[in-house]
Amino acid sequence: MTRYTGIIDAYRSRMPLPADAKAISLGEGRTPLIKLDNLVRHEGVEADLYVKFEGTNPTGSFKDRGMTMAVTEAVHRGAKAILCASTGNTSAAAAAYAARAGIKSFVLIPEGKIAMGKLAQAVVHGATIVQVRGNFDDGMRLVKEVSETSPVALVNSVNPYRLQGQKTAAFEIVEALGRAPDYHCLPVGNAGNITAHWLGYSESAGLPTAADSHFAAHSTIGNFATVTTRPHMVGYQAAGSAPFMRGGPVKDPETVATAIRIGNPQSWDLALHVQTESKGWFDECTDAEILACQRLLAEQEGVFCEPASATSLAGALRDLKSGKIPAGSTVVCTLTGNGMKDPDIILKGGFPPMIEVDAVKSAVERVLVDRL
Ligand code: F0G
Repeated sequence: MTRYTGIIDAYRSRMPLPADAKAISLGEGRTPLIKLDNLVRHEGVEADLYVKFEGTNPTGSFKDRGMTMAVTEAVHRGAKAILCASTGNTSAAAAAYAARAGIKSFVLIPEGKIAMGKLAQAVVHGATIVQVRGNFDDGMRLVKEVSETSPVALVNSVNPYRLQGQKTAAFEIVEALGRAPDYHCLPVGNAGNITAHWLGYSESAGLPTAADSHFAAHSTIGNFATVTTRPHMVGYQAAGSAPFMRGGPVKDPETVATAIRIGNPQSWDLALHVQTESKGWFDECTDAEILACQRLLAEQEGVFCEPASATSLAGALRDLKSGKIPAGSTVVCTLTGNGMKDPDIILKGGFPPMIEVDAVKSAVERVLVDRL
């Protein structure tokens, strides 16, 4: 039994890193692929339906896969500070990996629109937190401008090393299933993650993709699992924040799923390549659908994801019911982040009130008797 030490060590030959770059890792990756048999029964659909629960990563989201790569590469180049704009999860991961590396982190967040747990993570890891009077898209514009003239490494997903790290989720799925799924569904914000997954599946199939804009020559299979097919990639957006559905940027995006409150996706062109090559599609879910699905998953399967993450499953269930995803398909939905990052949304969400009792046995027994 060797100790698991994260995705760079696990897939080193498939990573475009200098041989002497020392991995900065928190043991990210190896997240569970959970089969949703209760939910399939409850919803009356027919499918092999799985969720890849990225909420079990060290900082609670898929961003850790990308951040270990971006920070490893930046530190190897001699960077002493990293910079990002974020709806919350990227800032949490950047702050943690910077702490691990012993460098500084600067994070730009949209004022008042970031989940409490994510903010706490940036605080505790010692990031310099800058609240921008604007939204994520404003922050993104600013960090791109600032990183051109300041000695900081930009670690948003426009940094190609981020996508190289995030592609490893597809490797793990291929290993777990022994094949590629028929459909892979993700929530889409900046559209980096859907692009990264397509890179991972394409490498596993030994096929080129136009979405591989930076490391086209890099495709080392070695002893790793290979596949003969690639999935249809399906991206779901929140209805108030759905530029791919509107055919262009959305000026004032709004959604309860603050992680994907993004109106001007940075990986626009790459994601369109993914859609075309994979014969996939984009669609949107309302906030009500997203929250209902988050709760359904928690109640039926014991899996607690954040609202943005539930978008993938909400969309997949709808498309399974309509037959757009054919019955009998193998479907993987990425649950991008952990529900514990955003407890406010649950506590505000109309759940039954707590029961208060005197500190005596009979009072507690009465509660049980009424409900057993
Ligand atoms: N789900 C969660 C939980 C996210 O945090 C994000 C992005 C996405 C989905 C969308 O992924 O941008 O690759 O399409 N969060 C970024 C952040 C923007 O700042 O944490 P994408």
